[in-house]
Amino acid sequence: MFFDSHAHLDDRRFDGDRDEIFANLANHGVGLLMNIGCDLRSSLQSVALSHKYSFVYAAVGSHPDDAAQVDDGLLAMYRQLCADARVKAIGEIGLDYHYEDPTRDVQLPAFRRQLELARELDMPVIVHEREAHADGMELIRQFPEVTGVFHCYSGSLEQAKELVKRGWYIGFTGVVTFKNARKALEVAQWLPLDRILIETDCPYMAPEPHRGRRNDSRYVPLVAAKLAELRGLSPEEMGEITTDNAKRLFRIP
Ligand code: NI
Repeated sequence: MFFDSHAHLDDRRFDGDRDEIFANLANHGVGLLMNIGCDLRSSLQSVALSHKYSFVYAAVGSHPDDAAQVDDGLLAMYRQLCADARVKAIGEIGLDYHYEDPTRDVQLPAFRRQLELARELDMPVIVHEREAHADGMELIRQFPEVTGVFHCYSGSLEQAKELVKRGWYIGFTGVVTFKNARKALEVAQWLPLDRILIETDCPYMAPEPHRGRRNDSRYVPLVAAKLAELRGLSPEEMGEITTDNAKRLFRIP
């Protein structure tokens, strides 16, 4: 069984066939799924999906792209949503310096305040960190009580080693199936098996042979298969290991 630990199936690109995708997941061995919020709207939709489907759980939070919207009122809404038993994490939150829109002085306090919320509520976080490795690590070092997953991992092996030492997990997408995936594969090769998560990040990051097209959770076994090959396991074994890991991190019984 496979657990897609990071999906955006609320995205409007699924408006035409969302129910069909959910109905088909079991046929592809996908038995659990975490739908991720990026702002208030997608957080509310993630919670709604988690109530509609028994195998879906929700994360709520604001992506760095939406950092400018993070204020007392929004944090109060997230706090309230986290009281829902289907909400298992705060995310996705973090830093993205690729386009730096909004600027880092807006992104940093939004990330910090959502880490504070995670600490207050004793919940794991889902971190999006792109080209912001130094600032990202500095912030999480200030919150030793908070752990979670660095999703769609793009950092170095050295950074991964520190994350693991601090109790964090690392999530891999279809990027591991790309020809230029050397860095992610180096990390996946080293990572303790009990810290690996698999994800689609759909509708983005479709694995080969679907690269460049709309991704969805039915393709998460392709991510597991690539990692399994790397570690000398069967895709099914990698599925079971990463499902156990996600359940442990997100405290799903
Ligand atoms: Ni995402």
